[in-house]
Amino acid sequence: MRRFASAATRRIALDNVAGMALGKNSNITSSIAEKVGRNLHHVPKHPLRTIKGIIEGHFEVAHGGKFRAFDNLSPIVSTQQCFDDLLTPKDHVSRLPTDTYYIDDDHVLRTHTSAHQTELMRAGERHFLCTGDVYRRDEIDASHYPVFHQMEGVKLFTAEELPCGVDGDVTSPECIGFIRNDLQETLGGMVKTIFGDNIEMRWVDAFFPFTEPSIELEIFFKGDWLEVLGCGVIRREILSNCDLSASHGWAFGLGLERLAMVLFGIPDIRLFWSEDSRFIDQFEDGQITIFQPFSKYPPCFKDVSFWLPQDFHENDLCSVVRDVTGDIVEDVSLIDEFTQPKSGRTSHCYRITYRHMERTLTDAEVDEMQYHVRERLAADMGCELR
Ligand code: DAH
Repeated sequence: MRRFASAATRRIALDNVAGMALGKNSNITSSIAEKVGRNLHHVPKHPLRTIKGIIEGHFEVAHGGKFRAFDNLSPIVSTQQCFDDLLTPKDHVSRLPTDTYYIDDDHVLRTHTSAHQTELMRAGERHFLCTGDVYRRDEIDASHYPVFHQMEGVKLFTAEELPCGVDGDVTSPECIGFIRNDLQETLGGMVKTIFGDNIEMRWVDAFFPFTEPSIELEIFFKGDWLEVLGCGVIRREILSNCDLSASHGWAFGLGLERLAMVLFGIPDIRLFWSEDSRFIDQFEDGQITIFQPFSKYPPCFKDVSFWLPQDFHENDLCSVVRDVTGDIVEDVSLIDEFTQPKSGRTSHCYRITYRHMERTLTDAEVDEMQYHVRERLAADMGCELR
């Protein structure tokens, strides 16, 4: 029978991530720590590596080898790199420990590859792509997973490369328009390489703390508009903080899983992490082929009801579930809630769907996992079980 370590023993076993000591307030669980260093974007035949290769190859050909590709930067970054350097406000939700994995007070597992923009620009890079695993505490469903992969792209222009006129003002409306055009042309070309020349696309206004204007690119794929990436013209303050006031430029960031799921027809984001050879062996390096599901095993539902503790956050519940069950839970949904009029206390009922990707789970196994989930909800989160 599988044994589950208690919270205390797990803390002792998990005292560092990638050689970095965990501070006492770290919210990194062992199931997350195990993902650091898996580097799916380097795994031969892996769909994420193929998508990365297609995009890097496109830039190589279409932009004469000007873009340098980085794919080996540590996922542990400072809060300065991840948030402050990108002008993310101090009270922005993305900084909260309910959303971000903290190593200690000043270091996080990067929540986006944008965290490398300023270090690379300061190192003198002016055209680059940067790919890596990123980490976000999140809900559980078929398209959300607390680790995924992004690619960042940046292009800087000197005043001579921009239509600035005699005064060399890289911030003139003409220059901004030029940069925006170049951005849209570059990314439009990239999307055509990935999806074919006939792909329908549209640009949508967006907001990111680090770009102005900010836009998103959507494509029409199999009957739905699908958001592919966020991008924009880099905010001046970011550049001046990097001693690059004389330059201007654009940046974009895209999620590799999202692209791989639609292109390979991969229905569940957990499959990318499968260590079953039936997953990886169906793919070839550099080729897009439609995923063949291996036999489906039946799901098993378990409900848990409890009175909410103070400061209850669903992401904390999902962290506990993941930590106890690994990848075996495919969905956690709120199915009932009510507030007692007299006491004002609120109760939630969650349905947890267990399904193993590679075999049928036994009742005893599911019961044991559910038992441990309940125990941890009470012990770690102060939920009063009903
Ligand atoms: N970092 C953003 C995210 O994770 C994506 C993004 C948006 C990156 C705009 C950029 C950008 O470089 O300019 O959602």
